[in-house]
Amino acid sequence: MSPDTWQHRPVRPGDPVRPAPRNTGSLLVDNIGELVTNDVGGEGGPLGIRRDAALLVEDGQVAWVGPARYAPAADRRIDAEGGTVLPGFVDSHAHLVFAGDRAAEFAARMAGEPYTGGGIRTTVGATRAASDDDLRATVRRLHGEAMRQGTTTIEIKSGYGLTVADEARSLRIAAEFTEDTTFLGAHVVPAEYADRPDDYVGLVCGPMLAAAAPHARWIDVFCERGAFDVDHARAILACGQAVGLGVRVHANQLGPGPGVQLGVELGAASVDHCTHLTDADIDALASHRVDCMCPEGLHTTTVATLLPGAEFSTRSPYPDARRLLDAGVTVALATDCNPGSSYTSSMPFCLALAVREMRMTPAEAVWAATAGGAAALRRTDVGRLARGARADLMILDAPSHLHLAYRPGVPLIRQVLHNGVPQCRP
Ligand code: NIG
Ligand code: FE
Repeated sequence: MSPDTWQHRPVRPGDPVRPAPRNTGSLLVDNIGELVTNDVGGEGGPLGIRRDAALLVEDGQVAWVGPARYAPAADRRIDAEGGTVLPGFVDSHAHLVFAGDRAAEFAARMAGEPYTGGGIRTTVGATRAASDDDLRATVRRLHGEAMRQGTTTIEIKSGYGLTVADEARSLRIAAEFTEDTTFLGAHVVPAEYADRPDDYVGLVCGPMLAAAAPHARWIDVFCERGAFDVDHARAILACGQAVGLGVRVHANQLGPGPGVQLGVELGAASVDHCTHLTDADIDALASHRVDCMCPEGLHTTTVATLLPGAEFSTRSPYPDARRLLDAGVTVALATDCNPGSSYTSSMPFCLALAVREMRMTPAEAVWAATAGGAAALRRTDVGRLARGARADLMILDAPSHLHLAYRPGVPLIRQVLHNGVPQCRP
């Protein structure tokens, strides 16, 4: 299927994991010092910033945004106490379904060992041995951690099962927590196929994809030396597209390679990591636009999703976001939460790293962690606060969005609303 006619499975309004709002009636959030809307149609720069604003929630959606003095009456009220309100973070890249941890591998890296991805097989062994309930408990714990740090949308990948049954159950469990589930059977070639990689690719494209696809919205491949080469990656992604999955690629993480340009060629929603980019990779990202037949009729591009938690945890050079932004590429930030290369669920941490180490402005980083993540998941219902968007937001104990990077490591998030429902105070 050519990228121009490519159609992935949309998030449907009735998707089962979307929790029904527990509270009915309207809710007014007022006394907002700074409201980040990401509403490009409005005023207030690229973040669509409004001051002295109020926001009305009805039926889990944003029903009205405007000056506080014109706020409509509502059944309930949350006083933002002059703090900042912004869209919930959209973490478009996370590997939450696994067992065990690799703290010793991290310690060895901090003592000078390089990261090669070889530890993935350790986690595969632990994951295969775990019960469904153990896996589910880990996802619930990490999902809760993320939510308390402002994440209201998260993508969750499989990729530590690598058998038909273990990939399918990983995705079934992931789908209990998110609409954005990703089949990553092509994470590495498991040990039992080490000398038969072609056979493993056949398994991934055949019975594994058939078992995974009913529970997945996306397909992903780790296209890297030591994982899958470009021919295998292209074949696997094309099989996924043929059954209606959208494409994402782990690309150019450990060194330069073909992953980014393969993603662009296939009309991927996102190419992720992008640590080692050539000028040709950036040109490809900047110049290629895809007619995505999304339900909203979006005209969109392949997003470059940067994962600074991975560079932090593997002590690697950070990607240069400035190069991408100056070329006009859409950039997203995500955590890559996984037990090997980036064991953080914290979007504020990644955002602060991006500002300090990757030459992003605080505003660019906030946009990339919210609207950028939504673009990487080809969603228009999240990552912004405008009429009709999902009422996913956070209230900061801070006078502006700048404080997210300016005060790293500080628990600034006072409240999170998901689908308009206040979550427990973090
Ligand atoms: O995105 N690079 C491939 N996959 C993960 C790491 C997985 C692991 O080390 O367990 C990543 O960084
Ligand atoms: Fe990853």
